[in-house]
This record gives sequence, C-alpha cells and structure tokens, in this order.
Amino acid sequence: MCGIVGYVGDRPCRDLLIAGLEKLEYRGYDSAGVSVISDGEIDSVRAVGNLANLRAAMREHSANGSGNVALATAPATIGLGHTRWATHGRVTEENAHPHGDCGDKIHIVLNGIVENHSELRKELADDGHVFSSETDAEIVSHLIERHFDGDLTKAVRDAFGELRGHYAFVAMHSDQPDVLVAARKECPLVIGLGEHETFVASAIPAFLRETRRVMEIDNDELVTITPGGAVITDAEGNPVERGEQEITWDEDAAEKGGYETFMMKEIHEQPDAVAETITDRLPSLDSVDLSEMELDDEYLRNVDRIVIVACGTSYHAGLVGRYAIEQWARVPVEMDVASEYRYRDPVLRPNDLVIGITQSGETADTLAAMRLAREGGAKVLAVTNVMGSQATRDSDAVLFTRAGLEIGVAATKTFVSQVAVMYLLGLRIAELRGTIPDERLTELIAELKHIPSKIEETIEVADQQVQAIARTHHKRRFFLYLGRHIGLPVCLEGALKLKEISYIPTDAYAAGEMKHGPIALLDEDTPVVCVATESPVLEKMLSNMQEVSARGADVVAIASAGSEQVAEVANQTLYIPDTDWILEPILAVIPLQLLAYHIARLNDLNVDQPRNLAKTVTVE
Ligand code: G6P
Repeated sequence: MCGIVGYVGDRPCRDLLIAGLEKLEYRGYDSAGVSVISDGEIDSVRAVGNLANLRAAMREHSANGSGNVALATAPATIGLGHTRWATHGRVTEENAHPHGDCGDKIHIVLNGIVENHSELRKELADDGHVFSSETDAEIVSHLIERHFDGDLTKAVRDAFGELRGHYAFVAMHSDQPDVLVAARKECPLVIGLGEHETFVASAIPAFLRETRRVMEIDNDELVTITPGGAVITDAEGNPVERGEQEITWDEDAAEKGGYETFMMKEIHEQPDAVAETITDRLPSLDSVDLSEMELDDEYLRNVDRIVIVACGTSYHAGLVGRYAIEQWARVPVEMDVASEYRYRDPVLRPNDLVIGITQSGETADTLAAMRLAREGGAKVLAVTNVMGSQATRDSDAVLFTRAGLEIGVAATKTFVSQVAVMYLLGLRIAELRGTIPDERLTELIAELKHIPSKIEETIEVADQQVQAIARTHHKRRFFLYLGRHIGLPVCLEGALKLKEISYIPTDAYAAGEMKHGPIALLDEDTPVVCVATESPVLEKMLSNMQEVSARGADVVAIASAGSEQVAEVANQTLYIPDTDWILEPILAVIPLQLLAYHIARLNDLNVDQPRNLAKTVTVE
C-alpha cells in the first residue's frame, strides 16, 4: 500500500506535492517520487528511502542538470507524487513511482495491486512496449498509452476496463497539462477542492492544510480533475453527481504537539481517545446508548453467535472483546484473523453477527472477510476509526472509535479505543438480553467512566519506572510474554509492540501452555513479561511466574495496585490503578506500550516508521 497525491492549479506544485506526501508517509515509506509537467515535458525524480532522500535527490537532479529544470525551480503547476510500500518489485529507484509510458508523456502513481499484470505485461510487450520496472503499476501507464488518442479521460476509462485487482491511481499526460485523471477500485481516493486548484490523494490530510472542501470518490468511479474542479463518472463514462463536504477536524492534530515522536504523543492522547469514544454513549449509569449503530434491538437480543475478524493489533482488541461479550452477554464469540477466516470457507448462520475491527477501515483481509460474511447471509458490524472508509461501506452497521488521526505505525490510541468499543458493545448486548444484573451494569458503566483518568494516571506513574526497566533490558535478544484469560490479549499486544518497533524477537503465550514448549527458552538472559493483574486466574499466573523464576529468568510483572503477592515473585513490578478486573486490559497494555517504546528509543530506532511495516495494509 502506498500514498498518492496529485495537484493541478495555478500555484507551483512541487512543494505542495512533497507536503502532501509527508502526510501520507504512514502508508509506506520505502521509496518516493514526484513528476510534474513543465513546458510540455515531464520532469521526474524518484529515490529509495523516505522523503528526506527524495529531497536530496531533487537537489542533485537540479545540480547536475539531469531532467529539465521544473523540479529545481518549481514553476510547474501540475504534478503527481507517491510514497511507496513495495508489493511487486524490489525497493529500487526503477520500481519507485511515478511510472511512465514508452514516450515518457504519460506518468501515473498507483496504490494497490493490479492482479492481471502478468498477462497485460506480456500483451503490451508483444505490442512493442518497453518496461523499465518490475512493478505491476507500470502496466497502467503503458495501457493508457495504448488507448490514448488525444483524450486522457477516455484513455484511462478504456485502461480501467482492462485492469483487475484493487487499486487507485492518478494519471497525467504532457499534451494535456491542465488535467489529471484518477480511478478507484476499492483503494481510497479523495478530492480536495480549492480556489483555481484541485487536489487528489489517498487521504484527506495530504491537502488539508490547503483546503477543507472534500469530495469522496467511490468504487469503480473515474474522476477528471482540472483547476476548476472535479468531474466524476462511472466506469462506463456516465456522469455521477457528488456533493462536497467540509472537513471540521484540525490539521494540527497531525503534528507532534511537543512530543519527540508521534507514538509518544499518541500514547498520551489515549485518555482523550477513550473519553471521546465512550462519553456520549454512556448518558446514564443504567444504560449504554449505541443507537447510532443501526442494528435493531430485536436482532441483537436474538443473536446466536458473534464472530470477530481483524488483523494485527485490532485482532487483539477483538480478543479482549470476546472475553467481555461472553462474560456479560453469554453469546458465544469466535475469533479469527481475517486472512485465515476469508479462506477457510466458514460456516455462517442467519443469526450470526460478524464484527470486523479495523482502525483504518481499509485493511484488505478484514474487508474481504466482512464481504464474505455478508455474502454468507450474516450481518456485519464494522468497528473503525475512519469515517468514509471502505469498512463503513462493506458493513450493515458501524461503530466508530473516536481516537482521532493516528500517525505512528504501531497502533496505541486506536487499540484502547477499540477495546473501549468492545466493552460498550458487550454491555449493550448484555443489557438487551437481560444477562447482566442491573447493579453490575451500573457498576461497570461507572467504572468505564473512570477509565480515561486511570489511563492518564497509568501513563504518569508507569513512564519513569518503565524507563528504568527498559535500561536494564534493552540489549536482550529475546523476550517472552505470558498471560492468562483477559491478560493473554494484553501480552500478545505487548509482544507485538516490542517486536514491531524494536525488532527484538518476542513470543507471547498463554501461561498455561508454557510447559508445552516455551519453558525450554528460559535462561538468565530471557526477560519474561507477565501480565498478572487481578483476576480469577491470578493464583495460576503466580504459579507460572514461580516456574519462570526457578529457571533463572527475570520476571517483569504488570500487577493491579496493591497486589503484593506479585511483587514477591517478580524481579520488577509495574502497577496499574485499581479497576474492575475485566476492564484491566485497557490499563495493563499501557506499561507494555511504554516498555516497547523506551527499548526502541534506547536502541536508537525510528518508532514512528518501523522498517517494513505500514499503517494501512491494503494488500493481502
Ligand atoms: C498494520 C498496522 C497495525 C494494525 C494492522 C491492522 O499491520 O501496522 O498497527 O493493527 O495493520 O490494521 P487495521 O487498520 O485493520 O486495524
């Protein structure tokens, strides 16, 4: 998955394109490029690495006189930009976008995958087209070249008809220096409308500094973009009417706000993210208001089974949800990672509710699993952080997390917000089914309302202690994480965070399974992180910690306030504030986010852009 941006207007566009790419780097950052049209010619610069490398390549490009001077002096007013996360083709300058046609008159940028690229490449090569990259994307520029007879919109439409896959792309032609044409098949695409200028991009932040007037492009639509605006058509060329929206959220939200990294800023935004997510859904102490969800009460009351599908961190939020829903609402809950679920020919029943959890709303596997479930007759509920994302369209109902924009690739505030939504849902279904006593419902609602301030307290108290623990362990070569019951998803998430941003191998296990394998890994050099918060299985967890200790390994424990038994066994203990035991994951994960963070920083790593990862995974 990648970030794409285009501009056509009356201002020099080079710096606008680069500024747009900066906002899209979270989508991929292994290489980048820009192309502009100036004096009827295309000038292009690409570079391996992040945008700093692209800027350096531009300076070099102008210094040694290669290409024309458009990118050096910045007079061009139409152009494209791309930040890449490699799918087809290695990370090289040749494979970086934009890609051109044989005559270097057409340039394109693409996000996604062209599935029938091999057959098209062969066909085009037989026709004499010469390719200069290994990518699937380059096919698109050559296909447009084949169809071009003076009208870029028509050529893009004809090319679009021959492509299979999921992608969004933008094209320009040096003979039409005031037109961009873009097309969308599943991958996101939005238009920004300004005064005598128009933007197109994978996501709104790419142009939010310049305009707040936005138009969304739907699946299977094409859009012709000029300085005067955007004309949308369907794949057959029929006009499509689309209103514009005014974006109200703040562009500054995307800045670091005084923190050294986005990840640290977002860790500190967790109290607000959870408060935003729960406050107006808990209008009183005796009921949860999820009326926005548009699933009728009768349906929820009679749901036979819930299936949760998700990927990565969102999957861990789903695991927490499973415990809460089963405990409170007494509905059986199944979980699967979306990439497995979609291919295992799952058995679906009419009274199944399938919940797709995806912060971006664009994860290819989760969307495919949701579509499959709908085709199989189940109702699908999306839990997502992004309004207008594909998940909101591939579902019967939506519950938004309200975490705000998350830039750090390692999810933090979206995770706790997802967990909060799962708690709300569990309580609401329990309330409707009458499976939770009124007093217990009131107690849990009251406690949920305190969670934002307890998250704040956890961050404040844990940060210094975690830094000390990180200093002790940051050079270790392997970490084991153990937890039971509600502590298990927490340790899965903690282990994922550490491996994602510090590149230290981790394993996370149900503590009861330790004796069936992982115990062989234990020695004096292996820190074992144990989630040992208050729960009906705490005693069992304590026994497992004793077993770890007896093998000479260091135990780092996460414990509930005042839990002295844990400190007796552990070498280091991090306490979280007292709360209802089933709500503990939302607090217990915080010291583990901080541990991963400080270990990565001590090892001098870029936590916001860890290698090989991307924030939004729009390929399977
Ligand atoms: C990527 C991100 C993770 C995220 C996962 C699922 O791997 O790096 O942070 O948890 O995708 O993303 P989603 O948008 O579906 O929650």
